[in-house]
Amino acid sequence: MGRQRHGKRVLQSDPVPHRKEEKSAVPHRKDKKKKPDIGKLFINISIGLCIFSLVWFFYALYMRSTLAKRVITLHPSPRVLDDNSTSPAMSPERFWGSYRPQVYFGMKTRSPRSVVTGLMWMRQFSEMDVSLRHTCEQGDRLQSYGWLLHDGVSFGVQEIRDSDFTLTTEFVKRMGGEHGGDWTWRITAKQHSSAAQAPVISLMFYVATDTQGSLQAHVEERNRLGSVTGSSEELGNFKITFRKPSAGEAAGDKYATYNYLKAGSQGLEKLTDIVRNSLSRRFLFSTPSGEKRPYIAVDTHKPPQHQHQHQQQQQDPRKESDFVVHQVTVQTPFQVEVLFESGSFRDRPDQLVGAVMTEELERRKAAFDLKFERTFGLQRKGYTPSQVKFGKAALSNMLGGMGYFYGQSVVQSAYNEYPLLYPQGALFTAVPSRSFFPRGFLWDEGFHQLLLARWDPQVTREATAHWLDLMNTEGWIPREQILGDEARSKVPAEFVVQRNENANPPTLFLALQELLEQLPDGGGSGDPDGPAPDPAHPTVRFLRRIFPRLQTWFEWYNTTQAGRLPGSYRWLGRDRDTELFLNPKTLTSGLDDYPRASHPSPDERHVDLRCWLALAAGVMARAARLVGEPHAAAAVSLKPERVHVPPGTPRHQFPAARLVRVVRGTPELQYVNALGYVSLFPFLLQVLSPDSPRLQHVLRDMRDPEKLWTPYGLRSLSKSDPLYMKRNTEHDAPYWRGPIWININYLAVRALHHYGNAEGPYREAAAALYQELRTNVVGNVYRQYLETGYIWEQYNDTTGRGQGSHPFTGWSALTVLMMAEQY
Ligand SMILES: *[C@@H]1O[C@H](CO)[C@@H](O)[C@H](O)[C@H]1NC(C)=O
Ligand SMILES: *[C@@H]1O[C@H](CO)[C@@H](O)[C@H](O)[C@H]1NC(C)=O
Ligand SMILES: *[C@@H]1O[C@H](CO)[C@@H](O)[C@H](O)[C@H]1NC(C)=O
Repeated sequence: MGRQRHGKRVLQSDPVPHRKEEKSAVPHRKDKKKKPDIGKLFINISIGLCIFSLVWFFYALYMRSTLAKRVITLHPSPRVLDDNSTSPAMSPERFWGSYRPQVYFGMKTRSPRSVVTGLMWMRQFSEMDVSLRHTCEQGDRLQSYGWLLHDGVSFGVQEIRDSDFTLTTEFVKRMGGEHGGDWTWRITAKQHSSAAQAPVISLMFYVATDTQGSLQAHVEERNRLGSVTGSSEELGNFKITFRKPSAGEAAGDKYATYNYLKAGSQGLEKLTDIVRNSLSRRFLFSTPSGEKRPYIAVDTHKPPQHQHQHQQQQQDPRKESDFVVHQVTVQTPFQVEVLFESGSFRDRPDQLVGAVMTEELERRKAAFDLKFERTFGLQRKGYTPSQVKFGKAALSNMLGGMGYFYGQSVVQSAYNEYPLLYPQGALFTAVPSRSFFPRGFLWDEGFHQLLLARWDPQVTREATAHWLDLMNTEGWIPREQILGDEARSKVPAEFVVQRNENANPPTLFLALQELLEQLPDGGGSGDPDGPAPDPAHPTVRFLRRIFPRLQTWFEWYNTTQAGRLPGSYRWLGRDRDTELFLNPKTLTSGLDDYPRASHPSPDERHVDLRCWLALAAGVMARAARLVGEPHAAAAVSLKPERVHVPPGTPRHQFPAARLVRVVRGTPELQYVNALGYVSLFPFLLQVLSPDSPRLQHVLRDMRDPEKLWTPYGLRSLSKSDPLYMKRNTEHDAPYWRGPIWININYLAVRALHHYGNAEGPYREAAAALYQELRTNVVGNVYRQYLETGYIWEQYNDTTGRGQGSHPFTGWSALTVLMMAEQY
């Protein structure tokens, strides 16, 4: 942090000495009349100094506030997205969506203060205490949950396996009117164990506003909330109808009891607590056999918000929003539908319920299946129906995990004593994990979009545009986006503040590379003599729009993360306290605890960052040519293929120079002998040319079971490395020090495919290894999914078992691309 201290010292302390000199100059003038020349000189000097110090003082003040504000000043180039780009007028089909990945089932619109809808549920008469489900929590220990089908736009089918019953949650949208149209939800509950008594379940459907809009509850006989009407800025008027449950589509009504709650909420993150605090056991469920049993329900008679409201008014200036809950309690099996109808949709042919809903669902499912096969061709490749179903679930979870967030990051630069609020911003993004990381992560997103770009390039363009619009004037994008109170409520305080020195791999260039490849007429080939692509193509228009931001982004990496030697780069933001950690972490690199220099210093060089920049430079050059930018030549100057390995390097990997703690004596500059993902980067990002003799060593080390090879994929750190599976601190389990990660394995499989198809001496070896690694990774992720019900954050390198957060259908879903052999 040398820069920080330097900056402050210059600005704060310099004016002070000048003022001292100024004081001491004054007596001279009175005492020594005989030397008028010298006196005048002193006067002049002191006036000069006085002016100089004043100017300097105000300049320093000005600079200080300017520099302090830089971190929260947005990039000056026109935003990629117009303010209205996600409005129902501009993008009606994508207005409503399952953009609340952090809840098991819920929908909202792509607007800053959206009305939200959602589902909570609870098993009645269970041994355990209240088992209220709402936000995705690993602690709920659900057997599995996730989207089986989801097209990202118009429908989705999710299956949730709770203790002894399964909920299927489906939605279908229908366009019409000016506010994003209608939708219908259908929840189907089935018992899945063979217990004698079918479980009784309460579903709690809710609607909540977020500081704007209003809701009216319409209560029918017997405490039953029949519908909610309401209005909001972007939705206009609307009506939500809660239909009665039935035993099945054809069957009649089922016995059910009803409860409702109408409350005020001080924020969406408080909804679970409001419901929990309002539960009462004073209601009776009369089983069809005649038995009466007390059950748990929201209580309309003692609204909990009364006392709550009183407290909150003093502490929380936020406006109270409307919150309405409809609870229906039924014994399985049953099915229930909820209907959202937009007020401006006037010529609706019929209601989207019952048989009409079934028909619509079937139609969308068929269209999805067709598009999936056309896009990925898994059946054609001979995969079994169960494997194809897995592939569909992996893709659907990434699509169904897309979120729309709005709010402010908390950021800090070297010039800020305290963290500041970043400008309000919107982010449409996929998320790594609905339970553990339900928000945007910069380096994950590039991997997500590799998959999504095949399915729907428009999603990739929109998500990338949202990310780039969050860039500040320096070219920095906060890497973890914790936008809004709901997102913040899930993040430990120490991770909230984002610092503007810190980078994260610019993986969005991977996604842009994919968009370039997709262009017709060889637009993506990079061949300067190839035919020019259609300037009206959405991707070309998009590239033109984002280009100024891309340039700033690239330059930000190229300057702030530059190492001491020309052409070298290093990750800033490493842990500073070397005493605390076995090896200070490098969270910014994305590979948190992967071994690096034992003593972080400006002399470090990080080969992975250098390779990321080589990738970025290549994509910039192609994009520049496409949009006719003269900077193409400058961008090409950072050409790949020049991996800098000094003569006499003991080992064949491509390590970066780093400081390593030497057992005796002071640390000295040397290569870190860790073999693992970072050593592979020149290969992973295809910086090595196909005839490089280094490929041979890479392939050999990858295939060595004592080093990186396992039957389940490549482990992150060689088994022979001293830090292999070592804890960083007592409480810090190994993360990138052994386990198998799917994003890097995807890059490895993709690189093997590349080298296996490129002319060169190692072509056959690469092709053979390609088949082997691909089979291992795909086989294991699939097997674990069948066994555990989930796709996982990482996989154990000795057993293959899924580990860490789950479901993790962020980059682990890249398994689909490996199945499809699309790279
Ligand atoms: C959306 O915004 C753009 C740019 O501000 C404007 O040109 C366009 O007319 C707007 N479209 C609608 C439907 O409001
Ligand atoms: C990146 O930085 C290097 C070293 O400062 C410079 O020579 C090069 O031109 C920069 N590249 C681009 C594309 O700005
Ligand atoms: C993998 O599983 C083995 C055996 O259960 C265990 O000892 C080891 O710690 C696990 N590895 C990781 C990375 O957790």
